[in-house]
Amino acid sequence: MDLHLTEEHKMIQEMVGDFAQKEIAPVAEHYDEVGEFPLPIIKKMGALGLMGIEVPEEYEGAGMDTVAYVLAMEEVAKADVATSTIMSVNNSLFNYGLLHFGTEEQKHKYLADVASGRKIGAYSLTEPMSGSDAGTMRSRATLSDDGSYYILNGRKSWVTGGPVADYIVVFTMTDPDAKPKHHGVSAFIIETDKPGFVRGKVEPKLGIRASATSEILFEDYKVPVENMLGKPGKGFKIAMTVLDAGRIGIASQSLGVAESAYDAALEWAREREAFGKKIGQFEGIMWKIADMKTRIEASRLLIYQAALAKEAAKSSGQRFTTEAAMAKLFASETAMFCTHQAIQIYGGMGYSKELPLERYFRDAKITEIYEGTSEIQRLVIARNELHLR
Ligand code: CAA
Repeated sequence: MDLHLTEEHKMIQEMVGDFAQKEIAPVAEHYDEVGEFPLPIIKKMGALGLMGIEVPEEYEGAGMDTVAYVLAMEEVAKADVATSTIMSVNNSLFNYGLLHFGTEEQKHKYLADVASGRKIGAYSLTEPMSGSDAGTMRSRATLSDDGSYYILNGRKSWVTGGPVADYIVVFTMTDPDAKPKHHGVSAFIIETDKPGFVRGKVEPKLGIRASATSEILFEDYKVPVENMLGKPGKGFKIAMTVLDAGRIGIASQSLGVAESAYDAALEWAREREAFGKKIGQFEGIMWKIADMKTRIEASRLLIYQAALAKEAAKSSGQRFTTEAAMAKLFASETAMFCTHQAIQIYGGMGYSKELPLERYFRDAKITEIYEGTSEIQRLVIARNELHLR
């Protein structure tokens, strides 16, 4: 469908699509197999401005808008979901938080490095004992006697880019007695080359294997007070605000992989013959094609709506929580649906590692889980509609 994109939007869509098909798609299978972070690709993406799409030029970003961001994410995800995950974490979870809550000094010191692709950023909220219930974290940061730094201890899990990240926005408890408990959470920008920072176990994952996910550990890690992001006790709100932006990125990557699966299914349905006909002439296949196409286009509209709501928020200051959650919910379930149906249409060939379909299927599953499960998205949408709290 025609979204009436500007010339600038069409340009970035074409440029990123071209880059992703030439540079990312041919090596996606390799990185998936070895489960290695694709650093050379990320560096190239940084040079193209793709690691700081919405960051203003004064902080070395590309200075573009959210529509440009979702279009670029979609194109990268068509080639490889894992690479788009890394892009999403850097653009949304790291940059967005720094841009909105960072001091000028933090922006010049950390944001510019990540937006330009010189350094890798990450975001760490989850802990082994707290996932969906993000406010119940056990890690602690205690203010030093002279008040110049915090001493951070604890274990965080499921950190995308954990094995390689240079800077990580970490959420931890600075006031364990706070009531409600999430008012005790604060956010810090962590430099990973300092003593007390330990990279932990790398997760052996079903999909997005190249996005390299690990635990990280803090053992009496000293973080200067000037590295706190936002105010003490405001960490949970920052984490939630940033996830609103992140969820739009995950929705866009879901759309990208859904489209790749759909395109492959369409081609096979047109070519493959059984019982003397093209399989696309059987209604059983036609229904699948119709449902895939409809869900893909509905996802696109929800993503576009969320991107425009995020753009409008720049002047109105209004939250776009519901729009982001609806886009992520619907697009991630569409990604799972389309990758599943595409394999079904291909039959045995779809199950084979000879084709990328099984990778699309494995990669798609995470979109229903990370940055808030589908159940959490439903809870967020319903709470915002019902206003019962
Ligand atoms: N924006 C701003 N503030 C928000 C907010 C939002 N979207 N959502 C909630 N808040 C604020 C509330 O206003 C409230 O503030 P006050 O205390 O000042 O009134 C506070 O946050 C607490 O809100 P709730 O009472 O709604 O909090 P809750 O404990 O019921 O939890 C939740 C809400 C929606 C379940 C939330 O915990 C949540 O989103 N959980 C999922 C966490 C998640 O997505 N984790 C993924 C981590 S990142 C990742 O996946 C790894 C990766 O690298 C990709």
